[in-house]
Amino acid sequence: MRRVLITGGAGFIGSHVADVLLRAGYEVRLLDNLSPQVHGPLRQRPAYLNKDAELIVGDLTDAFSVDRALRGVDMVVHLASSVGVGQSMYDIESYVRANELGTAILLQTLTKRPVERLLVASSMSIYGEGLGRTADDQVVSPEERSIDQLKRCEWELKDAQGRHLVPLPTPETKQPSLSSIYALNKYAQERMCLIAGKAYGIATIALRFFNVFGPNQALSNPYTGVLAIFAARLLNDRPPLVFEDGLQRRDFVHVRDVARACRLALETDHVNDVFNIGSGRSRSILSVAQDLARVMGRPALAPHITGKYRAGDIRHCFADIEKSRAILGFEPRVGFEEGLDELAGYLADQVADDQAERATEELLRRGLVA
Ligand code: UD1
Repeated sequence: MRRVLITGGAGFIGSHVADVLLRAGYEVRLLDNLSPQVHGPLRQRPAYLNKDAELIVGDLTDAFSVDRALRGVDMVVHLASSVGVGQSMYDIESYVRANELGTAILLQTLTKRPVERLLVASSMSIYGEGLGRTADDQVVSPEERSIDQLKRCEWELKDAQGRHLVPLPTPETKQPSLSSIYALNKYAQERMCLIAGKAYGIATIALRFFNVFGPNQALSNPYTGVLAIFAARLLNDRPPLVFEDGLQRRDFVHVRDVARACRLALETDHVNDVFNIGSGRSRSILSVAQDLARVMGRPALAPHITGKYRAGDIRHCFADIEKSRAILGFEPRVGFEEGLDELAGYLADQVADDQAERATEELLRRGLVA
């Protein structure tokens, strides 16, 4: 039986990857620091974790814990990360430590305890703005929006003549453009794993996840993904707070599809490469706020459009998943509506400590929301 170590395995994505791998006959060990921001002050083993998964509580920056976790392991799925784009812009030291030093320590330990395969969670954030099409049909990699443009509330991306760009699906060939510390961290993780994997003969794959949603996402973490933040607001009978004008577009992919993609990546012969994992569709943040309020039975809680922007945010990005389809055989199965209905069922029993306003104030105080 193959044994897989999942770093960050007690988290949202890790818990689903553990379920998929256990069902497929793998032995699963999780290494997780049970960070209070995600797991609450008591830092207990989450109830949603599969009983058959072994949990080692330890931090990736602690070489001793990593060494212990790697004993007898054949494959590693490296998910452990601090994930808030906004938070990464002021907690720079802790983001670089957790994400980059943590990955470095994992790789350093792997030089002593080699495995056959390494899968690392990268992110769509590394692309910066997704591809766009100009009015005269040119495909371009848009520049980051300037602070001056954002201050004028001109949210949309424009070409050199000031004409709006039409967002296009973004393939893996787009050059990275790193617009937040988090994006930089994710790119560093991806490259470090691919470089070390090649040097040490570890078959390595980086999956660039788009916006993952579904059950088990930490509701009381104000720096988690937007759907969980909106859910926490709605559970407390408050309207979602929407940055910019809400027409920025993202690609929402269901966590079970992501977990299946991880299994495909552990089993493919095509290694030492990167793949997008998204739904291939895009939605505006405003529309998902409205959809979520409706499925949660709170349609009257209309989103509050703040007209503010968050430093490090991009305007539009959604996945071109043709490469994952062709090489990994990846096909998203959970549609957005179906996933949202299921999420509403899950949320009905949840209690959330809504910290969104506190988090926004923190960013405002630091000039990272304006
Ligand atoms: C998210 C993930 C990141 C992942 C990436 C992959 C988190 C915290 N971030 O980043 O880890 O790598 O997807 O695609 O899970 N927004 C609001 N109101 C809010 C919160 C957010 O309007 O209360 C807006 C943001 O301004 C942004 C959009 O929603 O335009 C998405 O934000 P967020 O969920 O933080 O996602 P990403 O930055 O795309």
